[in-house]
Amino acid sequence: METVVSGIRSTGNLHLGNYFGALRNFIKMQQNNRCFFFIADYHSLTTHPDPSVLHDNVRSILTQYLAAGLDPEQSTIYVQSDVPEVAELYLLLNMQAYIGELGKTASFKDKARKNPDNVNAGLLTYPVLMAADILLHKADKVPVGKDQEQHLEMTRLYARRFNNRYGIEFFPESQPYNFGSELIKVPGLDGSGKMGKSEGNGIYLTDEDSVIRKKVMKAVTDSGPTEPNSPMCDGVKNIFTLMDIVSQPDTVQYFKDKYNDCSIRYGDLKKQLAEDIISAVAPIRQRIAEISGDEHYLQLVTRRGAEQARESAVKTVAEVRQIMGIKSF
Ligand code: ADP
Ligand code: TRP
Repeated sequence: METVVSGIRSTGNLHLGNYFGALRNFIKMQQNNRCFFFIADYHSLTTHPDPSVLHDNVRSILTQYLAAGLDPEQSTIYVQSDVPEVAELYLLLNMQAYIGELGKTASFKDKARKNPDNVNAGLLTYPVLMAADILLHKADKVPVGKDQEQHLEMTRLYARRFNNRYGIEFFPESQPYNFGSELIKVPGLDGSGKMGKSEGNGIYLTDEDSVIRKKVMKAVTDSGPTEPNSPMCDGVKNIFTLMDIVSQPDTVQYFKDKYNDCSIRYGDLKKQLAEDIISAVAPIRQRIAEISGDEHYLQLVTRRGAEQARESAVKTVAEVRQIMGIKSF
Protein backbone atom coordinates (compact mmCIF):
# COMPACT_ATOMS: atom_id res chain seq x y z
CA MET A 1 0.00 0.00 0.00
CA GLU A 2 1.32 3.45 -0.88
CA THR A 3 1.51 6.37 1.51
CA VAL A 4 -0.23 9.53 0.34
CA VAL A 5 0.05 12.94 2.02
CA SER A 6 -2.17 15.88 1.22
CA GLY A 7 -2.25 19.30 2.82
CA ILE A 8 -5.46 21.29 2.80
CA ARG A 9 -5.47 25.08 2.80
CA SER A 10 -7.19 26.37 5.90
CA THR A 11 -9.05 29.23 4.29
CA GLY A 12 -12.33 29.64 2.48
CA ASN A 13 -15.37 27.48 1.91
CA LEU A 14 -15.44 24.62 -0.57
CA HIS A 15 -17.09 25.16 -3.93
CA LEU A 16 -18.26 22.62 -6.49
CA GLY A 17 -14.86 22.85 -8.23
CA ASN A 18 -13.04 21.77 -5.06
CA TYR A 19 -15.58 19.04 -4.39
CA PHE A 20 -15.92 17.45 -7.82
CA GLY A 21 -12.40 18.35 -8.99
CA ALA A 22 -10.43 17.28 -5.91
CA LEU A 23 -12.31 16.07 -2.87
CA ARG A 24 -14.25 13.30 -4.58
CA ASN A 25 -10.94 11.88 -5.82
CA PHE A 26 -9.55 12.00 -2.28
CA ILE A 27 -12.56 10.04 -1.06
CA LYS A 28 -11.78 7.29 -3.53
CA MET A 29 -8.04 7.49 -2.94
CA GLN A 30 -8.40 6.80 0.79
CA GLN A 31 -9.90 3.38 0.07
CA ASN A 32 -6.69 1.82 -1.23
CA ASN A 33 -3.87 3.96 0.13
CA ARG A 34 -2.47 4.90 3.52
CA CYS A 35 -3.64 8.52 3.48
CA PHE A 36 -2.66 11.45 5.66
CA PHE A 37 -4.80 14.56 5.26
CA PHE A 38 -4.02 17.62 7.32
CA ILE A 39 -5.22 21.20 7.59
CA ALA A 40 -2.20 23.41 6.82
CA ASP A 41 -2.69 26.03 9.53
CA TYR A 42 1.03 26.79 10.01
CA HIS A 43 1.23 27.59 6.31
CA SER A 44 -1.65 30.03 6.59
CA LEU A 45 0.34 32.15 9.08
CA THR A 46 2.48 33.45 6.21
CA THR A 47 -0.30 35.92 5.39
CA HIS A 48 -0.76 37.07 9.05
CA PRO A 49 -4.39 36.00 9.58
CA ASP A 50 -6.33 37.51 12.47
CA PRO A 51 -5.75 35.25 15.54
CA SER A 52 -9.43 35.48 16.44
CA VAL A 53 -10.49 33.81 13.18
CA LEU A 54 -7.68 31.28 12.64
CA HIS A 55 -9.21 28.49 14.70
CA ASP A 56 -12.69 29.01 13.25
CA ASN A 57 -11.23 28.68 9.75
CA VAL A 58 -9.56 25.40 10.67
CA ARG A 59 -12.77 24.12 12.24
CA SER A 60 -14.88 25.09 9.26
CA ILE A 61 -12.58 23.53 6.66
CA LEU A 62 -12.21 20.36 8.74
CA THR A 63 -15.98 20.15 9.12
CA GLN A 64 -16.55 20.54 5.39
CA TYR A 65 -14.02 17.85 4.48
CA LEU A 66 -15.48 15.41 7.00
CA ALA A 67 -19.04 16.19 5.90
CA ALA A 68 -18.11 15.64 2.25
CA GLY A 69 -16.64 12.22 2.95
CA LEU A 70 -13.05 12.22 4.24
CA ASP A 71 -13.22 9.29 6.60
CA PRO A 72 -11.25 9.23 9.87
CA GLU A 73 -11.79 5.46 10.02
CA GLN A 74 -9.85 5.00 6.76
CA SER A 75 -7.42 7.93 6.82
CA THR A 76 -5.38 9.94 9.27
CA ILE A 77 -6.92 13.40 9.44
CA TYR A 78 -5.12 15.99 11.55
CA VAL A 79 -4.28 19.63 12.08
CA GLN A 80 -0.69 20.49 11.08
CA SER A 81 0.06 22.47 14.26
CA ASP A 82 -1.03 19.48 16.40
CA VAL A 83 2.08 17.66 15.17
CA PRO A 84 5.02 19.81 16.35
CA GLU A 85 7.57 17.37 14.86
CA VAL A 86 6.86 18.99 11.50
CA ALA A 87 8.42 22.21 12.81
CA GLU A 88 11.63 20.40 13.72
CA LEU A 89 11.85 18.63 10.38
CA TYR A 90 11.24 22.00 8.71
CA LEU A 91 14.21 23.45 10.60
CA LEU A 92 16.43 20.52 9.65
CA LEU A 93 15.36 20.59 5.99
CA ASN A 94 16.06 24.31 5.83
CA MET A 95 19.73 23.31 5.75
CA GLN A 96 19.11 21.63 2.38
CA ALA A 97 17.26 24.62 0.92
CA TYR A 98 19.19 27.37 -0.86
CA ILE A 99 17.91 30.93 -0.72
CA GLY A 100 18.60 31.47 -4.41
CA GLU A 101 16.25 28.63 -5.33
CA LEU A 102 13.57 29.67 -2.86
CA GLY A 103 13.59 33.22 -4.18
CA LYS A 104 12.89 31.96 -7.69
CA THR A 105 9.82 29.92 -6.72
CA ALA A 106 6.79 31.04 -8.75
CA SER A 107 4.41 31.13 -5.74
CA PHE A 108 6.89 33.23 -3.73
CA LYS A 109 7.45 35.76 -6.52
CA ASP A 110 3.70 36.01 -7.03
CA LYS A 111 2.91 36.55 -3.33
CA ALA A 112 5.81 38.98 -2.89
CA ARG A 113 4.61 41.04 -5.83
CA LYS A 114 1.04 41.13 -4.53
CA ASN A 115 1.99 41.89 -0.89
CA PRO A 116 5.26 43.84 -0.99
CA ASP A 117 4.93 44.88 2.67
CA ASN A 118 4.80 41.29 3.97
CA VAL A 119 7.64 39.40 2.31
CA ASN A 120 8.46 37.35 5.39
CA ALA A 121 10.88 34.41 5.75
CA GLY A 122 7.94 32.03 6.31
CA LEU A 123 6.71 32.89 2.85
CA LEU A 124 10.17 32.35 1.36
CA THR A 125 10.50 28.95 3.05
CA TYR A 126 6.90 27.87 2.43
CA PRO A 127 8.13 25.05 0.14
CA VAL A 128 10.43 23.75 2.88
CA LEU A 129 7.52 23.44 5.32
CA MET A 130 5.56 21.68 2.61
CA ALA A 131 8.49 19.31 2.02
CA ALA A 132 8.54 18.63 5.79
CA ASP A 133 4.80 17.78 5.70
CA ILE A 134 5.42 15.28 2.94
CA LEU A 135 8.70 13.76 4.11
CA LEU A 136 7.50 13.48 7.71
CA HIS A 137 5.48 10.45 6.57
CA LYS A 138 7.86 9.50 3.75
CA ALA A 139 5.06 9.89 1.24
CA ASP A 140 5.19 7.92 -2.00
CA LYS A 141 2.52 10.10 -3.57
CA VAL A 142 1.10 13.60 -3.23
CA PRO A 143 -2.06 14.73 -5.05
CA VAL A 144 -1.20 18.18 -6.38
CA GLY A 145 -2.72 20.60 -8.84
CA LYS A 146 -0.66 22.52 -11.41
CA ASP A 147 0.06 25.35 -8.99
CA GLN A 148 1.75 22.98 -6.51
CA GLU A 149 3.93 21.00 -8.93
CA GLN A 150 6.95 23.20 -8.38
CA HIS A 151 6.68 22.75 -4.61
CA LEU A 152 6.64 18.99 -5.05
CA GLU A 153 9.71 19.19 -7.28
CA MET A 154 11.48 21.10 -4.51
CA THR A 155 10.46 18.40 -2.04
CA ARG A 156 12.21 15.84 -4.25
CA LEU A 157 15.23 18.11 -4.54
CA TYR A 158 15.61 18.36 -0.75
CA ALA A 159 15.07 14.62 -0.33
CA ARG A 160 17.73 13.89 -2.94
CA ARG A 161 20.14 16.40 -1.47
CA PHE A 162 19.71 14.99 2.01
CA ASN A 163 20.22 11.42 0.78
CA ASN A 164 23.32 12.42 -1.20
CA ARG A 165 24.85 14.52 1.55
CA TYR A 166 24.55 11.78 4.16
CA GLY A 167 25.09 8.89 1.77
CA ILE A 168 21.89 7.10 2.66
CA GLU A 169 18.69 6.20 0.81
CA PHE A 170 16.44 7.66 3.49
CA PHE A 171 13.79 9.94 2.00
CA PRO A 172 11.71 8.79 -0.97
CA GLU A 173 11.33 11.04 -4.00
CA SER A 174 7.60 11.70 -3.62
CA GLN A 175 5.72 11.64 -6.91
CA PRO A 176 2.48 13.35 -7.93
CA TYR A 177 -0.58 11.16 -7.43
CA ASN A 178 -2.02 10.49 -10.85
CA PHE A 179 -5.81 10.52 -11.02
CA GLY A 180 -5.62 9.69 -14.72
CA SER A 181 -8.79 10.38 -16.66
CA GLU A 182 -10.76 11.00 -13.47
CA LEU A 183 -9.62 14.63 -13.23
CA ILE A 184 -12.45 16.92 -14.20
CA LYS A 185 -12.55 20.66 -14.57
CA VAL A 186 -15.65 22.28 -13.13
CA PRO A 187 -16.64 25.39 -15.11
CA GLY A 188 -18.01 28.61 -13.67
CA LEU A 189 -21.42 29.84 -14.80
CA ASP A 190 -20.27 33.33 -15.77
CA GLY A 191 -19.39 32.34 -19.31
CA SER A 192 -15.65 32.31 -18.65
CA GLY A 193 -13.36 29.51 -17.48
CA LYS A 194 -13.24 27.42 -14.32
CA MET A 195 -15.13 27.82 -11.10
CA GLY A 196 -12.85 29.28 -8.47
CA LYS A 197 -12.71 31.25 -5.27
CA SER A 198 -10.71 34.09 -6.75
CA GLU A 199 -12.88 34.01 -9.90
CA GLY A 200 -15.80 34.98 -7.62
CA ASN A 201 -18.12 32.52 -9.36
CA GLY A 202 -18.25 29.77 -6.73
CA ILE A 203 -21.28 27.70 -5.82
CA TYR A 204 -20.46 26.57 -2.29
CA LEU A 205 -21.28 23.42 -0.32
CA THR A 206 -22.56 25.76 2.38
CA ASP A 207 -24.90 27.69 0.06
CA GLU A 208 -28.63 27.59 0.90
CA ASP A 209 -30.97 26.18 -1.76
CA SER A 210 -32.25 29.67 -2.57
CA VAL A 211 -28.70 30.95 -3.07
CA ILE A 212 -27.88 28.06 -5.40
CA ARG A 213 -31.05 28.75 -7.44
CA LYS A 214 -30.18 32.43 -7.69
CA LYS A 215 -26.60 31.75 -8.80
CA VAL A 216 -27.67 29.22 -11.43
CA MET A 217 -30.47 31.40 -12.81
CA LYS A 218 -27.87 34.13 -13.44
CA ALA A 219 -25.76 31.81 -15.61
CA VAL A 220 -24.62 33.44 -18.85
CA THR A 221 -26.27 32.14 -22.04
CA ASP A 222 -27.02 33.51 -25.52
CA SER A 223 -30.31 34.19 -27.28
CA GLY A 224 -30.76 30.52 -28.18
CA PRO A 225 -30.02 28.27 -31.16
CA THR A 226 -31.63 29.29 -34.42
CA GLU A 227 -30.48 26.38 -36.58
CA PRO A 228 -30.51 22.66 -35.75
CA ASN A 229 -27.24 21.32 -34.30
CA SER A 230 -25.57 24.73 -34.11
CA PRO A 231 -22.45 25.07 -31.93
CA MET A 232 -22.92 26.21 -28.33
CA CYS A 233 -21.53 29.43 -26.90
CA ASP A 234 -19.16 29.02 -23.93
CA GLY A 235 -21.84 29.88 -21.36
CA VAL A 236 -24.26 27.21 -22.58
CA LYS A 237 -21.43 24.70 -22.95
CA ASN A 238 -20.52 25.32 -19.30
CA ILE A 239 -24.10 24.69 -18.17
CA PHE A 240 -24.05 21.33 -19.95
CA THR A 241 -20.62 20.46 -18.53
CA LEU A 242 -21.90 21.11 -15.02
CA MET A 243 -25.02 19.10 -15.81
CA ASP A 244 -22.86 16.19 -16.96
CA ILE A 245 -21.35 16.23 -13.48
CA VAL A 246 -24.48 16.53 -11.31
CA SER A 247 -27.44 15.28 -13.39
CA GLN A 248 -28.68 11.93 -14.66
CA PRO A 249 -27.46 11.07 -18.20
CA ASP A 250 -31.01 10.93 -19.60
CA THR A 251 -31.72 14.40 -18.21
CA VAL A 252 -28.65 15.77 -19.98
CA GLN A 253 -29.64 14.00 -23.19
CA TYR A 254 -33.18 15.40 -22.98
CA PHE A 255 -31.88 18.98 -22.91
CA LYS A 256 -29.20 18.32 -25.54
CA ASP A 257 -31.91 17.06 -27.90
CA LYS A 258 -33.95 20.17 -27.17
CA TYR A 259 -30.92 22.35 -27.91
CA ASN A 260 -30.27 20.53 -31.16
CA ASP A 261 -33.86 20.89 -32.41
CA CYS A 262 -33.95 24.53 -31.24
CA SER A 263 -36.84 24.01 -28.82
CA ILE A 264 -34.75 24.57 -25.70
CA ARG A 265 -35.79 27.09 -23.07
CA TYR A 266 -32.75 28.11 -21.07
CA GLY A 267 -34.97 28.92 -18.06
CA ASP A 268 -36.02 25.26 -17.86
CA LEU A 269 -32.44 24.08 -18.36
CA LYS A 270 -31.22 26.27 -15.51
CA LYS A 271 -34.07 25.24 -13.20
CA GLN A 272 -33.19 21.59 -13.75
CA LEU A 273 -29.49 22.24 -13.17
CA ALA A 274 -30.22 24.15 -9.95
CA GLU A 275 -32.36 21.31 -8.58
CA ASP A 276 -29.70 18.73 -9.45
CA ILE A 277 -26.96 20.79 -7.78
CA ILE A 278 -29.20 21.16 -4.72
CA SER A 279 -29.71 17.36 -4.59
CA ALA A 280 -25.92 16.88 -4.69
CA VAL A 281 -25.14 19.56 -2.10
CA ALA A 282 -28.05 19.30 0.38
CA PRO A 283 -26.93 16.11 2.17
CA ILE A 284 -23.41 17.51 2.59
CA ARG A 285 -24.77 20.79 3.93
CA GLN A 286 -26.90 18.82 6.35
CA ARG A 287 -23.81 16.93 7.59
CA ILE A 288 -21.89 20.21 7.90
CA ALA A 289 -24.63 21.52 10.18
CA GLU A 290 -24.54 18.35 12.29
CA ILE A 291 -20.77 18.11 12.59
CA SER A 292 -19.99 21.77 13.17
CA GLY A 293 -21.90 21.74 16.46
CA ASP A 294 -20.39 18.45 17.58
CA GLU A 295 -17.39 19.58 19.59
CA HIS A 296 -16.87 16.09 20.96
CA TYR A 297 -16.64 14.50 17.50
CA LEU A 298 -14.23 17.13 16.16
CA GLN A 299 -12.05 16.70 19.23
CA LEU A 300 -12.08 12.91 18.86
CA VAL A 301 -11.12 13.06 15.16
CA THR A 302 -8.32 15.59 15.57
CA ARG A 303 -6.86 13.96 18.70
CA ARG A 304 -6.80 10.55 17.15
CA GLY A 305 -5.46 12.00 13.90
CA ALA A 306 -2.63 13.80 15.68
CA GLU A 307 -1.78 10.66 17.63
CA GLN A 308 -1.56 8.58 14.46
CA ALA A 309 0.37 11.25 12.57
CA ARG A 310 2.83 11.64 15.43
CA GLU A 311 3.67 7.96 15.32
CA SER A 312 5.38 8.28 11.95
CA ALA A 313 6.50 11.86 12.65
CA VAL A 314 8.39 11.02 15.84
CA LYS A 315 10.07 8.09 14.11
CA THR A 316 11.16 10.12 11.07
CA VAL A 317 12.52 13.03 13.12
CA ALA A 318 14.45 10.67 15.43
CA GLU A 319 16.05 9.02 12.41
CA VAL A 320 16.88 12.33 10.74
CA ARG A 321 18.49 13.60 13.94
CA GLN A 322 20.59 10.46 14.12
CA ILE A 323 21.63 10.68 10.47
CA MET A 324 22.63 14.34 10.90
CA GLY A 325 24.63 13.53 14.02
CA ILE A 326 22.43 15.03 16.72
CA LYS A 327 22.75 12.98 19.91
CA SER A 328 21.49 13.39 23.45
CA PHE A 329 23.82 13.05 26.45
P1 ADP B 1 -9.89 27.76 -5.15
O1 ADP B 1 -8.86 28.76 -4.75
O2 ADP B 1 -10.65 28.16 -6.37
O3 ADP B 1 -10.79 27.33 -4.04
P2 ADP B 1 -7.70 26.00 -5.22
O4 ADP B 1 -6.86 26.57 -6.28
O5 ADP B 1 -7.40 26.26 -3.78
O6 ADP B 1 -9.18 26.44 -5.55
O7 ADP B 1 -7.79 24.44 -5.44
C1 ADP B 1 -8.03 23.47 -4.43
C2 ADP B 1 -8.24 22.14 -5.12
O8 ADP B 1 -9.47 22.15 -5.85
C3 ADP B 1 -7.17 21.81 -6.16
O9 ADP B 1 -6.89 20.43 -6.10
C4 ADP B 1 -7.78 22.19 -7.48
O10 ADP B 1 -7.29 21.42 -8.55
C5 ADP B 1 -9.26 21.88 -7.22
N1 ADP B 1 -10.11 22.79 -8.01
C6 ADP B 1 -10.35 24.09 -7.75
N2 ADP B 1 -11.20 24.63 -8.65
C7 ADP B 1 -11.50 23.63 -9.54
C8 ADP B 1 -12.34 23.53 -10.69
N3 ADP B 1 -13.04 24.57 -11.12
N4 ADP B 1 -12.41 22.35 -11.32
C9 ADP B 1 -11.72 21.29 -10.88
N5 ADP B 1 -10.91 21.30 -9.80
C10 ADP B 1 -10.80 22.45 -9.12
N1 TRP C 1 0.62 24.27 -0.50
C1 TRP C 1 -0.60 23.48 -0.62
C2 TRP C 1 -1.70 24.35 -1.24
O1 TRP C 1 -1.58 25.55 -1.25
C3 TRP C 1 -1.04 22.98 0.73
C4 TRP C 1 -0.05 22.05 1.32
C5 TRP C 1 0.75 22.28 2.40
C6 TRP C 1 0.25 20.74 0.87
N2 TRP C 1 1.50 21.20 2.69
C7 TRP C 1 1.23 20.22 1.77
C8 TRP C 1 -0.24 19.95 -0.17
C9 TRP C 1 1.75 18.93 1.60
C10 TRP C 1 0.28 18.67 -0.33
C11 TRP C 1 1.27 18.17 0.57
O2 TRP C 1 -2.71 23.83 -1.68
